[in-house]
Amino acid sequence: MYQHKDLLGLRGVSAEEITDILDVADTMKEILRSGNKKTPHLQGKSIVTLFYENSTRTRMSFELASKYMSAASANIAAGASSVKKGETLMDTGRTLDRMGTDIIIIRHPVSGAPHMLAKCVRSAVINAGDGMNEHPTQALLDMLTMRQRFGSLKGLRVAVIGDVMHSRVARSNIIGLCTMGASVTLCAPPTLMPVGIDKMGCTIAETTKKCVSGADVVMGLRIQRERQQAGLFPSVAEYCDNWEITPELMQKANSGAILMHPGPINRGVEVSSDAADSDRSVIDAQVTNGVAVRMALLYMLTRRELTPFKSEGGNEI
Ligand code: NCD
Repeated sequence: MYQHKDLLGLRGVSAEEITDILDVADTMKEILRSGNKKTPHLQGKSIVTLFYENSTRTRMSFELASKYMSAASANIAAGASSVKKGETLMDTGRTLDRMGTDIIIIRHPVSGAPHMLAKCVRSAVINAGDGMNEHPTQALLDMLTMRQRFGSLKGLRVAVIGDVMHSRVARSNIIGLCTMGASVTLCAPPTLMPVGIDKMGCTIAETTKKCVSGADVVMGLRIQRERQQAGLFPSVAEYCDNWEITPELMQKANSGAILMHPGPINRGVEVSSDAADSDRSVIDAQVTNGVAVRMALLYMLTRRELTPFKSEGGNEI
């Protein structure tokens, strides 16, 4: 069983722990399918989402997961909070903690921000994406989707194509998939491929055709147009010519290969509409699995006993 206080990344999370999380998520998916989405799993618990960056899927799936399991849940839009008045992340965290939160879910543009927060709050902290570092719950829902399709992650061949450099999704998937015995091959414009990333245990392919050859899973990553303005690739047209995932490219992968994407998609840039809407695409299943994985994590992280607060004089509160 997952025994840690927080979920900050997949680095250091064992294959047994990942398997446990995915097993609980499978059960949660049954609840989602059952038609009665109200469970008492989180009755009496309180959960706050603290997002310093935009999000649709991640934030909404955490909020729905909390509500489905009967937690008291609230969202802080950083733009409308005391952060705008100059409050530090640590003080914001401590304030929420003192209000009795059990879990704080944070997305932050700075890599490592959730780790700093976790050190100074009693609540469990879940990293919902920190800068270019990790996005563990996305990788878990991706692995759940792969496991549901293929039965096991061991020996699976996963091709990842797109902006690897800025992708926390890619990093968490590389770590998680390698832990589970899958292999990962990356392909990106040279300016969007971080030097030395192969040291994480993955391989690099020069062309998308080589990348998808023999692959069971083809995962696209979002190309952020601001990167093109920053001069990291010459033009969207050239990107499409060389790296767009199309039905033709999917033909070069294994016959049962699936197409994945964390969303949001730039249709016609990193993935063509034909590919995104094809039978091979499991992008919609990823979204549903996102709710199931987050239900599992919220449940598992509220199983531990909270240590009482200490007052200035050392008394328990
Ligand atoms: C990803 C993210 O925010 O890191 N999206 C997500 O969580 N579904 C990927 C992205 O924004 O490109």
